[in-house]
Amino acid sequence: MSRTIFVTTALPYANGSFHIGHIMEYIQADIWVRSMRMAGHTVHFVGADDTHGAPIMLKAESEGITPQQLVARIAAERPQYLQGFHIEFDHWHSTDSPENVELSQSIYRKLREAGLIETREIEQFYDPVKGMFLADRYIKGECPKCHAKDQYGDSCEACGAVYAPTDLIDPYSTLTQARPILKTSEHFFFKLSDPRCVQFLQDWTTGSNAQGHKHLQAEVLAKTREWLGHGEGDDQVNLGDWDISRDAPYFGIEIPDAPGKYFYVWLDAPVGYLASLKAYCAKLGIDFDTLLTPGNATEQVHFIGKDIVYFHALFWPAMLKFAGRKTPDQLNVHGFITVSGEKMSKSRGTGISPLRYLQLGMNAEWMRYYIAAKLNARVEDIDFNPDDFVARVNSDLVGKYINIASRAANFISKYFDGQLAYPGDAAALSAHWSQAAEAVRGDLETREYGRAIREIMAHADQINQAFDAAQPWLIAKGLADADPAQRAALQHICSTALAGFKALTVMLTPILPVLAQRVAQELFGLSRSFVWADAGELPAHIAPFKHLMQRVEPTMLDALFELPAEAAAVAAAPAQSSAPAADVAGGLVPGGEPIAASITIDDFMKVDMRVARIIDCARVEGSTKLLQLTLDLGEGRHRNIFSGIQSAYQPEQLKGRLTVVVANLAPRKMKFGISEGMVLSASHFDPKAQPGIYVLGPESGAQPGMRIR
Ligand code: MSP
Ligand code: ZN
Repeated sequence: MSRTIFVTTALPYANGSFHIGHIMEYIQADIWVRSMRMAGHTVHFVGADDTHGAPIMLKAESEGITPQQLVARIAAERPQYLQGFHIEFDHWHSTDSPENVELSQSIYRKLREAGLIETREIEQFYDPVKGMFLADRYIKGECPKCHAKDQYGDSCEACGAVYAPTDLIDPYSTLTQARPILKTSEHFFFKLSDPRCVQFLQDWTTGSNAQGHKHLQAEVLAKTREWLGHGEGDDQVNLGDWDISRDAPYFGIEIPDAPGKYFYVWLDAPVGYLASLKAYCAKLGIDFDTLLTPGNATEQVHFIGKDIVYFHALFWPAMLKFAGRKTPDQLNVHGFITVSGEKMSKSRGTGISPLRYLQLGMNAEWMRYYIAAKLNARVEDIDFNPDDFVARVNSDLVGKYINIASRAANFISKYFDGQLAYPGDAAALSAHWSQAAEAVRGDLETREYGRAIREIMAHADQINQAFDAAQPWLIAKGLADADPAQRAALQHICSTALAGFKALTVMLTPILPVLAQRVAQELFGLSRSFVWADAGELPAHIAPFKHLMQRVEPTMLDALFELPAEAAAVAAAPAQSSAPAADVAGGLVPGGEPIAASITIDDFMKVDMRVARIIDCARVEGSTKLLQLTLDLGEGRHRNIFSGIQSAYQPEQLKGRLTVVVANLAPRKMKFGISEGMVLSASHFDPKAQPGIYVLGPESGAQPGMRIR
């Protein structure tokens, strides 16, 4: 039966770029979504930026821009990551949107009508200089227990003590260094401790969806039980009411009928799931309210990381329930990704940057495959390990799976004009692959991706072994004898391998969507992408095999980790061929070449670039490339520079213009004279792909001799 499923991933904070943890979550969800669609289900897969809260407000302020500008800048970055890793959200929205304001306020009003909102005066640290209440993370001071200095307002990193910010000795605001004062203010609370909420959450957390899948994984349920008790009456319920308001100044959504009060970001953030779906429905002409009517068959599935379970397993279902809305059907919680065994951290760097991965021309499907191979349905951390990555991609994905097609297809094209045949065993073979695919489909639905990959690779091993045992290359050698039985045997061996290759490709389609699409179209001549039912459909013919996937160069991994010395070498290496630009869909290699390895500001300052006026410009006798420029850098003399820009400029065009010159480049003796520096110009790495040379120039007003910095 066809299902309708509303799928989300956690909404990333809009104050930073995606890191590999985000990408991992999206890959997990995207694989699931694609697999469900291949089974014929309707899936609405949406995301959004989580835009509100103090950190975004303060970051924007420090950059001298509005929060909206900051959010817009981050939003503009999102597509290159998502497209780059083939993550196909149907819609990407923002919590700073009219839909979210309307939905958040209406949910709040319903909770208030249900008697679940209460106000209380609370006393809190306030920065008198900034004029703002301070969250714990903006307060530091001396640990009351071990007296370590500069500890945060909630806990001590030195001794592990947990305390209230008011316990700190000599507290100070990290925003202004001022000593915070205590100030009271009225706050709004969602009464989670209300017996109705507790009862509902005990039911919901232990419940199952229409498919018989539990709402929560076992480990997640165990966690919620620490807060909710076991629902047997004698257990301790540790569920406090939830403070959902913040005082101005705050970047957020106003609380109705409460001037100067805003929803705490975590109230409106999950509502952003609904806001995004609503905006998407409007685009599609689907009725949003009908889609999410409680009791209607739409399933609501959230993919999140283990750090935000509290919000998603308690607050969010309760908010929805008591606002009279549909509650979630499944919460899929994943662990964290570490990089070479280390937690990612802002200060130490996030290990591997997803954007750099793409810019290096690394294939996004290697990453999708690797992450899939590591994931399971439990809340376990996974590790990105470079050696393991290379091994799995090269030995398994390319060495086992891709290898099948490259070996078998050539015989079929060469001797049988692409025709496949399965004398005697077509039905059994078809049944075999249908069953195998059904097992993998089931694993993907239950998020046992690692198991799915192990099964797929075990099948690949079997296919390769059978192929080796039959030694088709020996048969092919003897084909000159034209023994029809031998011919038939060769065709049968290769057909069987290719039927297996097709089935494995169907199974890998959610994980390797682009590759699978190529195989479907180019090799098997399908005009659509694969669905699960294709696994058991034995192919009748193939087109000639085209190269499908490159192996990983282990040196690429070094560059990914930004080890300065090696990174420089590798960043430079792809520039010797045009391969990386071609490898990445959508022109993600900027200007046709990866960004060079990072340098320090000192490195940069070694290059002395100056504004120069072009006094004269002439063609060079005997050269089709060069123009000879006479330049004034404000030195009281003129410089002579040869520049390879003849194809792009007439000499007259340049006379009188300002440009930029590398002034401390060692003079170079050329065939036509001495060149005393270099004029800066922009061009694509591959002029055939994108012709044009553009000489740089400063804005008018710059004077010859001014330095570029
Ligand atoms: N804005 C909140 C979520 C609001 S949902 C209504 C948030 N944002 S986040 O950007 O910090 O994290 C987004 C998602 O990335 C979360 O699911 C989080 O668990 C996940 N990850 C963050 N770091 C991660 C890893 N190192 N590994 C895997 N996932 C990680 O939380
Ligand atoms: Zn301490």
